[in-house]
Amino acid sequence: MNKFVLAAMMLLSASSSFAADIKLPEPSTSGGMPLMEAIATRRSGRAFDTKMLSDKHLSDLLWATWGISSEDGKRVVPTARNRQDIDLYVLLPSGSYRYDAKANLLKQLGDKDLRYILAKDQKFALDAPVHLLFVTKDKKYGEMHAGSMYQNASLYCASENLKCVVRGLYDRAEIKQALNLDADTEVVMTEAVAYPKAQ
Ligand SMILES: Cc1cc2nc3c(=O)[nH]c(=O)nc-3n(C[C@H](O)[C@H](O)[C@H](O)COP(=O)(O)O)c2cc1C
Repeated sequence: MNKFVLAAMMLLSASSSFAADIKLPEPSTSGGMPLMEAIATRRSGRAFDTKMLSDKHLSDLLWATWGISSEDGKRVVPTARNRQDIDLYVLLPSGSYRYDAKANLLKQLGDKDLRYILAKDQKFALDAPVHLLFVTKDKKYGEMHAGSMYQNASLYCASENLKCVVRGLYDRAEIKQALNLDADTEVVMTEAVAYPKAQ
């Protein structure tokens, strides 16, 4: 095998070493609990089952949080000047991912389970198989956008009888480093999501 072919193969295998993207099923964009009932039912929960969410629940949760809801590319939550300058990262036992709403997939960023970083000061969080991370460099509106997103996620959880809790208690520097974020980019808030712990 010539040197160039070998080098090309090595490069290809290095660049595709985290290529385990998760293609999601089409999200359901109708149905669920009546809105007022979901608002009335929403509650933080901290007793989580460790079982992974089904692909269907994951897809619907992500769409409700940061999906595209019209053909002009607008989202389920408003953003200042429609800049949409926030990313939804997802930590799962199988690694870290960025939600690509257009392609309806989770793009794998790394294959390490980083959930332990978020759970250091609140051990119950380690049970949750899904952690949503709101990632932005927008200092002015980023946290507001994250707030809209976590509220949508929480209402979806209420509607589907999933447990969730918004969490601000985590080591921001450590998770930022583990995710290899740019210096000006932060994880401004997180939310743990799971099935309720079996009684
Ligand atoms: C910005 C924000 C940060 C929060 N951080 C945490 C946290 O780190 N750990 C936690 O257990 N709950 C956290 N919570 C959840 C609150 O404790 C909870 O929303 C509050 O007690 C009211 O309860 P409810 O959500 O059931 O209405 C946070 C909530 C918000 C909105």
